[in-house]
Amino acid sequence: MDTKVEKISSNIKKTKVLRNIITDSRLSFLMEAHDGISAKIVEETGFSGIWASGLGISAALGVRDNNELSWTQVCEMCEYMTNVTNIPILLDGDTGYGNFNNFRILIRKLEQIGVAGVCIEDKIFPKKNSFIKGEKQNLTSIEEFCGKIRAGKDVIQDKDFVIVARTEAFIVGLGVSEAIKRAKKYVEAGADAILVHSKREDSKDIDAFMKEWGDAAPIIIVPTMYYQVPTSHFTDIGISTVIWANQNIRAATSAMEKISKTIYESYSISEAENEIVPVKEIFRLQDIEKYEVLEQRFSR
Ligand code: SPV
Ligand code: MG
Repeated sequence: MDTKVEKISSNIKKTKVLRNIITDSRLSFLMEAHDGISAKIVEETGFSGIWASGLGISAALGVRDNNELSWTQVCEMCEYMTNVTNIPILLDGDTGYGNFNNFRILIRKLEQIGVAGVCIEDKIFPKKNSFIKGEKQNLTSIEEFCGKIRAGKDVIQDKDFVIVARTEAFIVGLGVSEAIKRAKKYVEAGADAILVHSKREDSKDIDAFMKEWGDAAPIIIVPTMYYQVPTSHFTDIGISTVIWANQNIRAATSAMEKISKTIYESYSISEAENEIVPVKEIFRLQDIEKYEVLEQRFSR
């Protein structure tokens, strides 16, 4: 019997799953991944969706989160992630890598490689990471950003592909009225959800925003800096989705720093052995069992 070796996981499209995650009334979570293995681990852990983080992917490749990677390099990494997972991926698409036309081209590519949605932010290309200290970052005009959203909606083939519009109003030091004004315009232009970002260590920006927002569109947050705010508070104020945006790249970094140091200082790998996964765990994550079945069937 010619049984299929490939897992046919679900008939529901990833785009539809992501749309449901973002629009349903329960608080949902997206977890950061930055390459194939981290994406697979996020899925296995039980998360229903992945945040392909610009910071995470940049860091994994050793560059700054300042649009130092090309959009095709980012897409290539996304494709490694979509190839090995069945849950939807929301790509952190920065500013869309240019103007409205660059964003159209990006979306065409994302649909081809099976990414379920993209988030773009209202900064100017090349962006800088929102937490970088130093010179003030500027926002693009509302008109330019709305044109970009409309261009994105216009090029989408699958009506369930998600466009999230992110306002950096608080990040650049503007107040709640500017954040609300922008978010409303972005929804009018066709955004499916708004990501409102804040670098405060408490949730005051987000609380003020939610007080005025209403229900024009779901709200997504990234509590990297206000990690001490209990998750139940996000439910209480009506947040739709929380993105844990960079904890896997940071966890990988602390593990690698620690183990490299241990090995360097002990001139040996014996102390390190108990602190790291066995090689067979890597094989498992690489689907070695599937390969063995294929080998039985096809290798003569
Ligand atoms: C990312 O993960 O790249 C983000 C979130 O955009 S942040 O780094 O908080 O800006
Ligand atoms: Mg980012």
